[in-house]
Amino acid sequence: MHALLAHGLPVASSCHGEGVCSKCRVRILAGAANLSPESTLEGDLKNRNRIGTDFRISCQARVLNDIVIDTTYW
Ligand code: FES
Repeated sequence: MHALLAHGLPVASSCHGEGVCSKCRVRILAGAANLSPESTLEGDLKNRNRIGTDFRISCQARVLNDIVIDTTYW
């Protein structure tokens, strides 16, 4: 989330990166291994909101190398 915002890309959010709303989810199109591992908090949030495994909660994931992502609102 912070990397996206730093590059001027909009990220949906109503919890300001607290890992509560799940609105910041992004679909990972390539490079999933280049993100930090999914935390318990992120996994629980995805399960509660029935978010597919091809998505990550952007405020909870750190970018470690190149990735390709998309959202429904870009
Ligand atoms: S901004 Fe709310 S969960 Fe990421």
